[in-house]
Amino acid sequence: MPRKIIIDTDPGKDDAVAILLALAAPEAVEVLAVVAVAGNVPLARTAANAAALLELGGRTDIPVYPGCAAPLTRPLVTAEHVHGETGLNGLELPPPARAPEAEHGVDAIIRLLRAEAPGTVTLCLLGPATNLAMALAKAPDIAPRIAEVVWMAGARSEGGNVTPAAEYNVYTDPEAAAVLLASGLKLTLMPLDLTHQLLVTRERLAALRALGTAAARATVAMFSEIDGTPQREREREGIPLHDPTVIAHLIDPTLFGGRQINVEVETASPFARGMTVADWYGVTGRPANALWLNAAAPDRFFALLEQRLARLP
Ligand code: RIB
Ligand code: CA
Repeated sequence: MPRKIIIDTDPGKDDAVAILLALAAPEAVEVLAVVAVAGNVPLARTAANAAALLELGGRTDIPVYPGCAAPLTRPLVTAEHVHGETGLNGLELPPPARAPEAEHGVDAIIRLLRAEAPGTVTLCLLGPATNLAMALAKAPDIAPRIAEVVWMAGARSEGGNVTPAAEYNVYTDPEAAAVLLASGLKLTLMPLDLTHQLLVTRERLAALRALGTAAARATVAMFSEIDGTPQREREREGIPLHDPTVIAHLIDPTLFGGRQINVEVETASPFARGMTVADWYGVTGRPANALWLNAAAPDRFFALLEQRLARLP
């Protein structure tokens, strides 16, 4: 039986690949809804991008709900320098035929969790955790109904990608991260420690390009900036692929390894805002509140991605 999932996302180039991967794994995941959040680009764009990506994947039956337009307490910090003004730099998609729904994404999360049997819905977070944190505050009764939260978030050994200390999804809304870390929910984190091992290299781009499907072409279009131009990040031979790890983990839980540990988040420091303090060696004695996945299998991950993108239109 496939897991029922709600994808909460800020597409975003890597979010786009994660959404397409989810559509290519019907035996593993049933996408109940996509909820957009402000993040890489403003909400209007993340919602439109989500709808356009579902259309690209042939799934206009899946609704898109616009969620929060800003973090819980802080101004939005976007990432157009990484994802472009549109959020899907390199990929030209037609405007979606199905517009996002009128219902707010936070209300949709609450409604869907109340409608489904308790413990059967997994929240897949690919951006800042604003929507889920707000939903938990608005309707605490939904917490025991959530099977698991799988979130691309955090960093320990890799340092940050927004500041020296913080990964973007946590940096953008550290208060929302604190809500999730204190919630008692079953929480699985895919930090930069994992995703920085999963690099889109020229060779992997060539393999994707050879697939010939629109989904594979879209992926290549968004990640081909290393193809023929100077390396985007000189110390690496490719571009890290972050968000698809969330979906890949649901398709094949043997892909990644890690440890159940305590993770806290810095919300007060002007220098370490959004830093995830991951107690890998258990020195604090604080309760283990998250599964921290940091052991990757890059070749298996990209083989899965290629295999699945080949199945889409
Ligand atoms: O730090 C990487 C994360 O921030 C990814 O989710 C990417 O899409 C951006 O949102
Ligand atoms: Ca994202």
